[in-house]
Amino acid sequence: KTVFVMNGPNLNLLGKRQPEIYGSDTLEDVANNCSRVAAEFGLEVRSLQSNHEGQIIDWIHEAREAAVGIILNPGAFTHTSVAILDALNAFEGPVFEVHISQVHKREAFRHHSYVSMRADGIIVGCGIEGYELAMRRMGTLVGG
Ligand code: DQA
Repeated sequence: KTVFVMNGPNLNLLGKRQPEIYGSDTLEDVANNCSRVAAEFGLEVRSLQSNHEGQIIDWIHEAREAAVGIILNPGAFTHTSVAILDALNAFEGPVFEVHISQVHKREAFRHHSYVSMRADGIIVGCGIEGYELAMRRMGTLVGG
């Protein structure tokens, strides 16, 4: 059983990009932490990142066959992408939305998320630990 951990635009720069907001850990750290937690539940992880909306949509389509669940930080597409919401609505397993920063303490344009209309759970403002928290919940739902 595989969980897709997907990250959207600019998150390839995690650790270097605005570390005062997003911290100094990298996406590789996120991937390693997710794999470690997933293994506790007998789950595998495929870690994916793209700066391109269409690529993220294609991966969500692939997840229909290849994944039991999705953990997604859509980056700025969170606030703009009806197309990612539509793609997630075509996926049947659990979906968790993660934001590293506490978006509700930030600019008003970050307060609305299209993805939240589909997410089974949302973890916001817990730094990169949010991915592990999401993975634990995923494990409870689909692991074992
Ligand atoms: C983010 C929050 C978004 O508003 C922002 O555009 C990002 C990262 C977060 O993880 O805190 O790229 O999703």
